Amino acid sequence: MMAPPLTPVGLRCAHQVNPLGIAPDRVRMSWALRGLGTGRAQRAYQVLVAPDGEQLSEDGNLSWDSGRVESASSGDICYAGEALARGARYTWQVRVWDDQGQASGWSDSAAFEVELDPSEGWLASWIGRGQVRESVSPPAGPGPVDPVAGTLTPAPYLRRAFSVDKPAVSARLYVTALGLYEARLNGHRIGDAFLTPGWTDYGQRVLYQTYDVTGLLAAGENVLGAIIADGWYAGFVGYDAKRAGAHYGKAPELLAQLAITFADGSRQWIMTDESWQSATGAIRHADLLMGEKHDPRLEPAGWDVPGFDAAGWAGVRCRDRGAVPLVADPGPPVRVTEEIRPVSITRDPQGGQVVDFGQNLTGWVRVKVEGPAGTSVRVRHGEVLSPDGGLYTENLRTARQTDEYLTSGGPGVLEPRFTLHGFRYAEISGYPGDLDPADVTASVVHSDIKPAGSFSSSAGWLDQLAQIIDWGQRGNFISVPTDCPQRDERLGWLGDAQIFARTACYNRDVASFFAKWLDDVSDAQLPSGAFTDIAPALTFDRPAAPAWGDAGVIVPWTAWKMYGDTGILRRHFAAMERWMDFIERANPDCLRSRELGNSYNDWLAPGADNTLHELLATAYWAHDAALMAEIADAIGRPEDAAGYRGLHAKIRTAFADAFVGDDGQVASGTQTAYVLGLHMGLIPDDLREAAADHLVAAIGAADWHLTTGFVGVGYLLPVLSSTGHADVAYRLLAQRSLPSWRYMLDNGATTIWERWDGRTREDGFQSPQMNSFNHYSLGSVGEWLYRFVLGIDQEPGTAGFSHLLLRPHPDETLTWARGSYESVRGTVSTSWSRSADQFTFRVVIPANVTASVRVPSARAADVRDAAGNPPASVANFPGAAGTEEAVFSVGSGIHEFTGPAIAGPGHSL
Ligand code: BGC
Repeated sequence: MMAPPLTPVGLRCAHQVNPLGIAPDRVRMSWALRGLGTGRAQRAYQVLVAPDGEQLSEDGNLSWDSGRVESASSGDICYAGEALARGARYTWQVRVWDDQGQASGWSDSAAFEVELDPSEGWLASWIGRGQVRESVSPPAGPGPVDPVAGTLTPAPYLRRAFSVDKPAVSARLYVTALGLYEARLNGHRIGDAFLTPGWTDYGQRVLYQTYDVTGLLAAGENVLGAIIADGWYAGFVGYDAKRAGAHYGKAPELLAQLAITFADGSRQWIMTDESWQSATGAIRHADLLMGEKHDPRLEPAGWDVPGFDAAGWAGVRCRDRGAVPLVADPGPPVRVTEEIRPVSITRDPQGGQVVDFGQNLTGWVRVKVEGPAGTSVRVRHGEVLSPDGGLYTENLRTARQTDEYLTSGGPGVLEPRFTLHGFRYAEISGYPGDLDPADVTASVVHSDIKPAGSFSSSAGWLDQLAQIIDWGQRGNFISVPTDCPQRDERLGWLGDAQIFARTACYNRDVASFFAKWLDDVSDAQLPSGAFTDIAPALTFDRPAAPAWGDAGVIVPWTAWKMYGDTGILRRHFAAMERWMDFIERANPDCLRSRELGNSYNDWLAPGADNTLHELLATAYWAHDAALMAEIADAIGRPEDAAGYRGLHAKIRTAFADAFVGDDGQVASGTQTAYVLGLHMGLIPDDLREAAADHLVAAIGAADWHLTTGFVGVGYLLPVLSSTGHADVAYRLLAQRSLPSWRYMLDNGATTIWERWDGRTREDGFQSPQMNSFNHYSLGSVGEWLYRFVLGIDQEPGTAGFSHLLLRPHPDETLTWARGSYESVRGTVSTSWSRSADQFTFRVVIPANVTASVRVPSARAADVRDAAGNPPASVANFPGAAGTEEAVFSVGSGIHEFTGPAIAGPGHSL
């Protein structure tokens, strides 16, 4: 009997579901296939795209009919039809043929809307409040002048009333700000996104959002309004004192176009221009680092609904739209993704009430307040408590993270929305009476990247480690991947992002998030071809350090590897080539010793960072060259690929000559030096085993502790597990004394710390100058949990999870592990368990995917699948010398394998 046909589901365009704004060159389609059954596969597909309103069928008026394409690919399908019209809506659907020749029938239809022309499509002008910050003086009073207060100004409120005389069939609001905006129509907040339009280099590219506001329009008078705030544009971010609070401009501005389409086909446009009015309201200031102050008594009640008397409102400052392109936001919106209740409320020595949310997070606190008019309630935020039980804020440097609310006499709610705080604790002072836990909530705010991975095992603390890694990601993926969310920094550091990129992908769906940020990385590229340490670049105009700038190659490669997205490679290939040329020009001898920028080296390695700078730099360059070769192949540029292979071979030789001894010792002898040499394939093949033994000896010499900083840490366990030392990998993982991941856990970490010794039992806090408790870099071990513990990986040379390599690297001391990864082709899950003598491995492989399943065993020939079949072959298991693995090739479906367990020494977890 034939199985039911495969069904295409989960249609996406540019990794988004029904995007309302997308650049024509980003239109790439993908789908998943429903229908698990042994060996189910797609053989061909057909995509239809039609302008909105046209029939979506083969005999309709289509803009693209791909015809039947013989291909197993279900993603990265590039639109190849008629030119897409700007601002237009299209619907699309797909059908597939499976390996039994059955057609699926057409999928449900999906839609996308094309972005406006980045310059021609915009007729609106930038508007803002007439007053800018120069005219605001710091409050007079006793004591030193507050340098921040003078720069914090009330958030402008902007409004425009207009009338609608005919029934509208659709309405779209295209809106952005230099700064942040909250758009409002007839008293309703538009959309559920925050911190819009997001952070870019506003001098090069400004993102905008598109909203379907048809349902909010009314007949007769309507009011379109917006509150705008400084945000990244005119507010504090980073730590450059010279440009504090005004990196791109001094006051926020709004740009909006509302397009209303009527039943008769006619259109009405409402846009920002000199006809708008402005005022200020309850929000006395709003800054990402400093916080928000609300005085509800100053709110012009009803300002955004029809009938409001705006006689007292001022005009607006209006200026030409300028030449900077306006681009539809390709990334996920920032949203409130979770709300958290307090776990306890205590009093600090000063009498303030300290709320513990039990989790270090990024977002803000909502508090219900009722008290005599004019009472000032202040909420300060911190990640940890001082030994006396008060909030510890020294590590915030100049960031204030303080919200303030002046009561109006009646019941009120403090809920900021143009700021962000990194905190687990909130200290609330001035609150009338005792706080009721029911009146306080923490909102978790970040780019809405959906969970992709799950992990659990027989060691509870390991699961906790996986969770705190994910929390670190949530706290820092906010429009750009930042280093930390609390102190006066919060910058898109490239080094941190590249080391964490693969972990980030396993944890959550970051396809469109990285797509957005990689534009920032390219925008920041210097004329020399150098990438910068951070993106958006702010004032960073030096070439990036090794392992930082290399993110410009590594992150696109990772995105392609994980999502099969060649569009991202094509988009950035020229920028990557310029980076490669920049390094080569400066280092013609193939050792990278020049143009190392700030050379952060193995940043924050515990103790002394003894890794040679030139070694680390050269290793990363070689790695770039190897990835560039793969990238060039993936986008059909075989000559470039050959060129980069040649470059890689030359750097490899230079590396070996300069840094690798005949006995496999690597210069400087640090764990990181060995890890980079081995991971990046730079140790001559016949010396790999010896080098891996030296690595283990270096770990042993550190009394089985790691000594890696940001750069070495990510590949440390993967290298150990793939060179026969899985037991050492587990031993490092299980280590409880400093430096170790588990030390953080044992000491109350709920997000990964910036430093191994952020807070120690002996010495207390590390230097407040650099001591974040929410930095994801050292959490790059997450990748190892998925690829090596669960064994969810891909066959070398493949991308997009079409050909899996399911190969767990268990250690005797874990009795089971299970988890899953939501790949672009569907959910992959694995689960293994072992008893004293038996190992069982169970896998679920989505439709249209094949897998090489490798089961570790003391006697691989005795491993059997559920039907009793022996393995296709037996190989040496890379995780532990002297053991074997049974190799099976399987297609989609649920498979189980059982055989004799591996033996070996273990460490109690
Ligand atoms: C940041 C890091 C960053 C580093 C560069 C720090 O201030 O917090 O995460 O990568 O500087 O060395």
